[in-house]
Amino acid sequence: MRISVIGCGYLGAVHAASMAELGHDVVGIDVDARKIELLASGRAPFFEPGLPEILTSAIEAGRLRFSTDMADAADAEVHFIGVGTPQQLGSSAADLTYVDAAFRSLAAVAAPGSLIVGKSTVPVGTAARLAAELDELGTGARLAWNPEFLREGFAVKDTIEPDRLVYGVADPADVEVLDAVYAAAIGAGTPRIVTDFATAELVKVSANAFLATKISFINAMAEIAETVGADVTQLADAIGHDARIGRRFLNAGVGFGGGCLPKDIRAFAARAEELGRAESVSFLREIDAINLRRRDRVVDLAASLLGGDVHGRRIAVLGLTFKPDSDDIRDSPALDVAVRLHGLGADVIATDPEGVANSRAKHPQLAFTESTDEALAEAELAVLVTEWSEYRELVPADVAAAMRSPRIIDGRNVLDPAAWMEAGFDYRGMGRHAG
Ligand code: UDX
Repeated sequence: MRISVIGCGYLGAVHAASMAELGHDVVGIDVDARKIELLASGRAPFFEPGLPEILTSAIEAGRLRFSTDMADAADAEVHFIGVGTPQQLGSSAADLTYVDAAFRSLAAVAAPGSLIVGKSTVPVGTAARLAAELDELGTGARLAWNPEFLREGFAVKDTIEPDRLVYGVADPADVEVLDAVYAAAIGAGTPRIVTDFATAELVKVSANAFLATKISFINAMAEIAETVGADVTQLADAIGHDARIGRRFLNAGVGFGGGCLPKDIRAFAARAEELGRAESVSFLREIDAINLRRRDRVVDLAASLLGGDVHGRRIAVLGLTFKPDSDDIRDSPALDVAVRLHGLGADVIATDPEGVANSRAKHPQLAFTESTDEALAEAELAVLVTEWSEYRELVPADVAAAMRSPRIIDGRNVLDPAAWMEAGFDYRGMGRHAG
C-alpha cells in the first residue's frame, strides 16, 4: 500500500520505518528539514535500538523516503498522523497545535477515498472534532483513530509485533483498510479491537494512567516501607505473584518520567475537568504527586548520607535519561535529581551512556562526563538514578576504590545491597532493606 506518515519525531519516524519494513511504500513528512535530511540518509535523530538498521534497509530497497513537502503525501492511500501532543506551557492540558496544523495541511492534499489515521495521543473528543472538519471541507477523505502503545527502547518491535491493535472508526469499511495495513501483524494472531473514536482515544490515555498508577502505588508502599522498616521489593514480589496484580511495573524507585506517562496523566485530568468529570480521575493528581515526591526522597537521602548538607560535596549522578536504552531526557527524574543537587550547592558530576549531549544542551550549568570511571573518581556519594546495565554490573570493590568514600543511593533498587555493603558501602535503596 502507499502510506504517508505526517510527523517524523519519535512516533512518526518509527512508524514510517516499520510500515516500510512490513512491505508498504512509505513517505515520511516533517516540517523540520534537519530531521528529514538525517532520516533520508538512514540515521535516526534520536537513540532507538534497531531503528537505523530498518531505516537503511527500507531506503535502499526503495520503499521509504522522506520529504518536507506535504504534496508528496498526496497519492498515499493511507495517511498516519504521528505528531507530538506535548504539555501546554503553563497548563496541564495537551497542546494540539501540531495535530491541528498537520491535519489541516494534510486535508488540503489528501485524495478522495483516502484514509487519514490519527496515532497521536489526544484528549478524548479530538477525533470527532477532526472528522467533522473533514466533512465540512468536503475532501472525500475519511478519518480513523488507531492509538499506538510503543515503548521507547522497544519501539520497532512494539510497532511491527503489537500486543493489540485498536481501531476507532466511523465507517465499518475502514476496518478493511486498516487490516490491510497491519496484515502481517494480524496474521500472527494479534488481537484487534474495533470501536468508536472516543473509546479508541480513551484506551490510550487510560492504559498510560493505569501504568502510572501501578508505579505510584508501589512507590507509595515504598514510602510506608521506609517508615516502618519494611522492604518494598519483597512486598512487590509477594503481591506480584497474584496473577490479578502481576509483578511488571511494580518497581519502586525514583519514579516515572519520559515523554508520555507524566504529560498524558496530566492531560487526562485536564480533559476530565473540561468534561465536568474532574472527580472521576482526581486520583491522577495524587499519582503525579507521589511520583514527584520520589525525587525529594533521593535528594533528602543524599543530604542525610552526607551528614545533613550536600553543599560542596562531590556527588556522582549515574544516569540522566528517563529510562535505560534511550537518550530521552524529557521529564526525567534522573536529570531532575542532578539539577536539584547542583542547585543545593553540591559538586555534581553527572554521567549517562546516551543522555549527556541532550542534558548538557538543556542544563549547561551542570558538569558532565561520558565516563563512569571519571564520574566516580573521588566522589563522596554515588546516586544511581537510571538503571543502565553498565551501572547494574558495576563491581562494588572497584567503585569503592575509585571513590573518596563508599556511599551509594540505589534510586532504582537494582543493586544487591549485601554485595555493596560487604565492599564497605553505606547503601540506601528506595523503601528497601539495606542488607
Ligand atoms: C510508556 C508506555 O509503557 C507505552 O505503552 C506508551 O505508549 C508510552 O509510554 P515509555 O515512556 O517508553 O512508554 O516508558 P516505560 O517503559 O513505560 O517507562 C516509563 C517510566 O516509568 C520510566 O521512567 C521508567 O523508569 C518508569 N518505571 C517503569 C518505573 O519507575 N517502575 C516500573 O516498574 C516501570
